[in-house]
Amino acid sequence: MPDLPDHVVVLDFGGQYAHLIANRVRGLGVYSLVVQPEDFDAALAARAAGVILSGGPQSVTDAHVDLMRLRLEAFGKPLLGICFGHQLLAKLFGGELAHGCDRQYGPTSIRCVAGARLFAGLPVEQSVWMSHGDHVAHVPSGFRVAASSDSCAVAAYEAEGRDIFGLQFHPEVVHTPHGGALLKNFLALCRIETPWRADGMRQRVVDQTRAAAGDATLFLLVSGGVDSLVALQVCIEAVGPGRVRSLHVDTGLMRLGESDDILRFLAAEGFANIEIERAEALFLRELAGVADPEKKRAIIGRLFVDVLRARLRALNLGDDWKLVQGTIYPDTIESGGTKNAARIKTHHNRVPEIQQMIDRGLVVEPLRDLYKDEVRLLGRELGLPQALLDRHPFPGPGLGIRLLCHDGSPGPEGFADQPKLERILQHGDGMPPSRDRISISNIHYPLSTDQVGSQQPPGEGAGSPSRRKSILRGRILPVRSVGVQGDERSYRHPAVVWSPTGPWPGWPALNAVAAQLVNQLADINRVVICLDDLSGVDFSLRETYVARDGLDRLRQVDDLLHRRIAHIPEIWQAPAIALPLFDADGRQAFVLRPVCSRDAMTADVYPIDFDLLADLSREIRAVPGAGHLFYDITTKPPGTIEWE
Ligand code: XMP
Repeated sequence: MPDLPDHVVVLDFGGQYAHLIANRVRGLGVYSLVVQPEDFDAALAARAAGVILSGGPQSVTDAHVDLMRLRLEAFGKPLLGICFGHQLLAKLFGGELAHGCDRQYGPTSIRCVAGARLFAGLPVEQSVWMSHGDHVAHVPSGFRVAASSDSCAVAAYEAEGRDIFGLQFHPEVVHTPHGGALLKNFLALCRIETPWRADGMRQRVVDQTRAAAGDATLFLLVSGGVDSLVALQVCIEAVGPGRVRSLHVDTGLMRLGESDDILRFLAAEGFANIEIERAEALFLRELAGVADPEKKRAIIGRLFVDVLRARLRALNLGDDWKLVQGTIYPDTIESGGTKNAARIKTHHNRVPEIQQMIDRGLVVEPLRDLYKDEVRLLGRELGLPQALLDRHPFPGPGLGIRLLCHDGSPGPEGFADQPKLERILQHGDGMPPSRDRISISNIHYPLSTDQVGSQQPPGEGAGSPSRRKSILRGRILPVRSVGVQGDERSYRHPAVVWSPTGPWPGWPALNAVAAQLVNQLADINRVVICLDDLSGVDFSLRETYVARDGLDRLRQVDDLLHRRIAHIPEIWQAPAIALPLFDADGRQAFVLRPVCSRDAMTADVYPIDFDLLADLSREIRAVPGAGHLFYDITTKPPGTIEWE
């Protein structure tokens, strides 16, 4: 085993954030290693200054406990369990777990008890990010509860007289604001003497890429996004421009004018050896009649490989080439690319055809251990222009996964959860008292019923919104989207919420509504709002596939929305999604999903100004065939950023 600096081991039970824990620990100046639980032998245990057990998609079983009993019961150094790891340590030391109920995804407020050691120096009450189904019902004897939330009595525990801790929530995600301080308090107990500093990323990545390339020509598919352009620049530095060839595939699933913009940009920046393949007809032909999101992803991924192979044949490169992909870490983890991780989505860089090439050593992925924020930093170190690095991420499968399809089968007939949805909205269970009601002064857009004009009841001006109670109505929609709940994929329905009379509750209450609904209704994994009064509106599901007319409409809506909000610095990415839902006038419903994130592993909802949202809701109706605009108010988890 190589000589390692003092380090902490992160045991990877397949949680979406296992690698992120290691990344955060290194960011706090302590070297960390990700190790599979089966590989955590006596030698590794002897050298670790502390162990962190990650989250995971499964429930804790006796087999997990037996596996860890051998190594951890006698481990005298600090232990920290996170989510699944928190449950596993509790069970290992004699506590009790409970399944189901009390599911929680997204932000939750917890209170710590006096003297809780990991919480030293932190506020008594804080917001944390949860994603779990199971929970600890009783802590082991000799342990005490260190923090609780309203619906999770054991949000954190600690052993008395030993450095053993458990956190049901995720301190490693950026959306747990004091998470870094909690990890730092744990690391302080690990008594590590030599702090660790990351070397310059640029040199390390360039050297690794040169070694991986050997003597081969490097061939890249350049989408024009941040990842592929940073990967391209790394390759040019690693082996020189003469050995780098690249191809931009216009799949027909790009944004309005995107392919031409990219080529212009690349030419202006002096990138050479770039060609373009206009492959719209091929992609649309193969996607015709396909509604399932995973099948669409698989087809798109395979077609990229087909185009690539044809181009390589034409270039006559023989066997002397390697494919470079701009895959980044979240892509790998969310497509089940680490041993115990669940597959949330098939990434286009991980379809079987690519996997076979990876197995044959034909693929180089310079960015595979990095998160988006690190890719942007690397791009800056490489001297790429800031405007490029600040572009919103755009997925490889493009609008192909933002145009939701339907195979024409009759939709579900009602939802068991509908009465519960109405009850929660009526009583506002779990909503914080909110005096900050949102009223919309800009209400000229056509409402969905015959009403045109003010959303305020007669006699009430926009100046007195707090005097009236917000009334919310909701309905579960017959489409489905992908979510990530308790580290597993979910594929469930969204609920749409509207306010028939206005005003709306403020953002804190809306966020609480969204969390409450997803936590309590098993039918749904997402919540959207609509400023139109949907009381009398019927949506029908229509047979819809990825085709030119639908893509053109989505492109126009996307372009319009993007131009209006892309400049807002807090917005990290803002997908526009077309739903196969049409109102009585035949107008299609669209979703806007702006999120605040740093690394795509977790995401928060952007609290849009309602006057702006009213404008956008009105403006998209100028696009022929576009109707109601829904605004996604789901955090990640439980909703992924993209709907498919
Ligand atoms: P999700 O939807 O899983 O997405 O929360 C996280 C981030 O990854 C992007 N994404 C992809 N990017 N190929 C890509 O290049 C893909 O197949 C793919 N799927 C999702 C997504 O846009 C978001 O930024």
